[in-house]
Amino acid sequence: MCGICSAIGNFNEIFDVIERLRKLEYRGYDSSGIAYKENNNLEVVKSVGQIANLEKRIGRNLSSQIVIGHTRWATHGKVSEENAHPHMSANGEFALVHNGIIENYEDLKKIFLSDVCLNSQTDTEVFVNLIARQKGPVINKLIEACNLVKGSFAVAMLEKNSNKIYLAKRKSPLMVAQNENGCMAASDLSVFVGKFEKCYIMEDDEFAVMSEKNIVFFDKSGKKIKKNAVLINNFDFCDENLNEEYFMLKEIKEQAIVLKRTYFKYFSENTLSEAEISKIKKYKSFHFIACGTAYHSGLMGARYIQQFCKKECKVSIASEFRYDNNVLNKNCLYVFVSQSGETADTIACANLIKEKGFDVMCVTNVPYCSLNKLADIILPTFAGREVAVASTKAYVAQVFTLLILAIKLSKNLELQESLKKFVLSFDILQLDDALLKFLYQFNNIFYIGREQDYVASLEGALKMKEIAYINCIGLAGGELKHGTLALIDENSLVIAISTQKKLKEKMESNIQEVKARGGKILLVSNFEHSVEVDHFLQLPEFEEFLMPIVSITALQLMAFHYAVELGYNPDKPRNLAKSVTVE
Ligand code: AGP
Repeated sequence: MCGICSAIGNFNEIFDVIERLRKLEYRGYDSSGIAYKENNNLEVVKSVGQIANLEKRIGRNLSSQIVIGHTRWATHGKVSEENAHPHMSANGEFALVHNGIIENYEDLKKIFLSDVCLNSQTDTEVFVNLIARQKGPVINKLIEACNLVKGSFAVAMLEKNSNKIYLAKRKSPLMVAQNENGCMAASDLSVFVGKFEKCYIMEDDEFAVMSEKNIVFFDKSGKKIKKNAVLINNFDFCDENLNEEYFMLKEIKEQAIVLKRTYFKYFSENTLSEAEISKIKKYKSFHFIACGTAYHSGLMGARYIQQFCKKECKVSIASEFRYDNNVLNKNCLYVFVSQSGETADTIACANLIKEKGFDVMCVTNVPYCSLNKLADIILPTFAGREVAVASTKAYVAQVFTLLILAIKLSKNLELQESLKKFVLSFDILQLDDALLKFLYQFNNIFYIGREQDYVASLEGALKMKEIAYINCIGLAGGELKHGTLALIDENSLVIAISTQKKLKEKMESNIQEVKARGGKILLVSNFEHSVEVDHFLQLPEFEEFLMPIVSITALQLMAFHYAVELGYNPDKPRNLAKSVTVE
């Protein structure tokens, strides 16, 4: 994981880099650091914890026009100042920030650096020393070292004697932008918003040298190459005007806007062309592959396509799919769902499918992400930039986009009309204090639901785990009696999600099973049930197939409030990062 922001210009770049690094904290926030040039020396400042700590350490008086910056999610070596980036070469000539993993770093250390005393446990320190060992001009040293390295990297590097920033990329994202005041490199387009209008997306095994006035690109043989700039569409990144203390709450509340925007993008702007729809229709089946919350969106997408298009669907967890003995099929469209488009497990599966010659569709929220480069068809989601680690509006955007896909494929105009009515009237519900007080009594929580509500129960439980650190399970209502019921006692809370009238009685039976063991019930539903429960959260009534979008909002809010109640920052849960670029 990790995020990079580096700049060279005609102003003091230190504070701009630090400010923009904040936008990358979603990629990791274990530690952060900068390296900058002062006279002809390389200086490094690092700090453990969030960027605010680094800022305190730097004070207001530092100044430099060449800076590389980094925010870290630890992979090799514990969270500590020694392991924080930037790393210096032992000869003091190079400083490097790195996002990715050097898989053969132990071998490289033994073969090339046995005489070097390393100060950290990181693969990055090996990398920078390897670069220092190469011959020729700085860019050649970087290219040579990258040829020796196995794994993934996006790097920005300073060299003591040159007023330049050197860049290299393989498998981890890196982009560069330029204006009349200088150049910047970053892991994510959102960093450029407000400062640059255009940028260049670096491809694997491309290199670049940024100076104050220009950027020169090279291929892996060291030959100069020309690249085309792409426009940065601010709309994709805009933070809606909702002032909330936490991004997560702001993003939950944005869901109403996201739904309207998505509807508009697909039905007024025709984001998916008729030609693409005809192409997608030709596939006899769909196989969704994703991780975490995006996997849950895949589960919902599969349900919609089966329900409205009567096509066979499968759903796999990316980290499992990769090592399964899958029988691949050319009549199947492989659909990869990912908010970031940078998730290593998902990308690895998409690569595998492409290598075997099958077709890939990517449902992604970030334009120009790595996953999109592998796509035969791209189905963008229009959630806008999602900052909180726990995915909320991106999930809703994915589910809604896959629903739109199913409706477009089925050409069902009635369903389209229902969608329109839904987006115009959908509003975020509020949870009352009585419900929250009731919820806060439990730290043993089970989520149950059937069919579409089963997916909601999985996603609701994931939210609660990741931000409130409560050990909970999401499971199919019918599965309770096959094992998990053994865990239910008077200290257990079962959140029962029930939005399908055809399954009302079945859910009521599950609720009774829990009550008989002394468990407490919080029922989340849009209609009355005949069984008595401890607490009832009444959802607004929409058509059944739309209810997964309504019920999940309630579950997201429960997790959010519980995390805050326990004193945790819901935006930055421990041990996690927004974009998981390691397998
Ligand atoms: C969501 O709350 C999680 N943080 C996580 O499960 C996430 O959805 C998963 O890592 C996949 O990320 P992606 O959508 O960027 O591929």
